[in-house]
Amino acid sequence: MPRIISDNIVLRPLESRDLENRVAWFNDPQVRQTLVVTEQFEIEKTRRWFERLQSDRSRVEFAIDTPEGITIGVTGLVGIEKEHAVAECYCIIGNRDYWGKKLGTEIHSALIQWAFEVLGLVKIRADIRTNNPAIFRVVEKLGFKIEGTLRQEKVVSGQRIDLNRIGLLRSEFTPTHKRFEIQ
Ligand SMILES: CC(C)(COP(=O)(O)OP(=O)(O)OC[C@H]1O[C@@H](n2cnc3c(N)ncnc32)[C@H](O)[C@@H]1OP(=O)(O)O)[C@@H](O)C(=O)NCCC(=O)NCCS
Repeated sequence: MPRIISDNIVLRPLESRDLENRVAWFNDPQVRQTLVVTEQFEIEKTRRWFERLQSDRSRVEFAIDTPEGITIGVTGLVGIEKEHAVAECYCIIGNRDYWGKKLGTEIHSALIQWAFEVLGLVKIRADIRTNNPAIFRVVEKLGFKIEGTLRQEKVVSGQRIDLNRIGLLRSEFTPTHKRFEIQ
């Protein structure tokens, strides 16, 4: 697992010291409005998840640092299917002071360049809630297309919600960052 360094962020492998932040961010009501999670996150369960993660080849998990070393969120690839060369991406900037500074775009851009160039994936996808204009704008800038609507796909807070399936082929990818170093 590498460190991925771009203009304004560093993606580094998730460590056990990040787990309390991860739990707090996934439980933040404002963040949860954008996610398809139903259960409250708990630290002990998350520690067990982190142990299992070490031998799980279907996902990679990163913490997001600023160049000064402030950890602002988590990102990663899940559901990696090597035989189909596809994976699903996610990103949560849990420290809300860092929203709206173009970092979400840069994080996706660096993660996806690594996924295409180093992991050899050819498609990245995600199912995103329709109430999140910021993520639509982020993915649009990188070249993602909306592939369809999954109607009333999930139940969140007692409501059935639609999701948009979005997808990005390697040939469509437009990175937004300049610096790209892998350590
Ligand atoms: C979604 C998220 C990753 C975006 O990161 P960010 O750093 O705030 O996003 P950026 O600044 O790179 O870009 C946001 C874009 O959306 C636009 N935007 C933000 N809020 C918007 C709104 N309410 N309506 C329309 N556009 C909006 C911004 O203007 C910007 O577009 P621009 O570059 O053309 O100006 C971040 O807000 C986050 O982590 N949210 C919580 C979790 C989440 O939603 N994750 C995604 C689902 S997994």
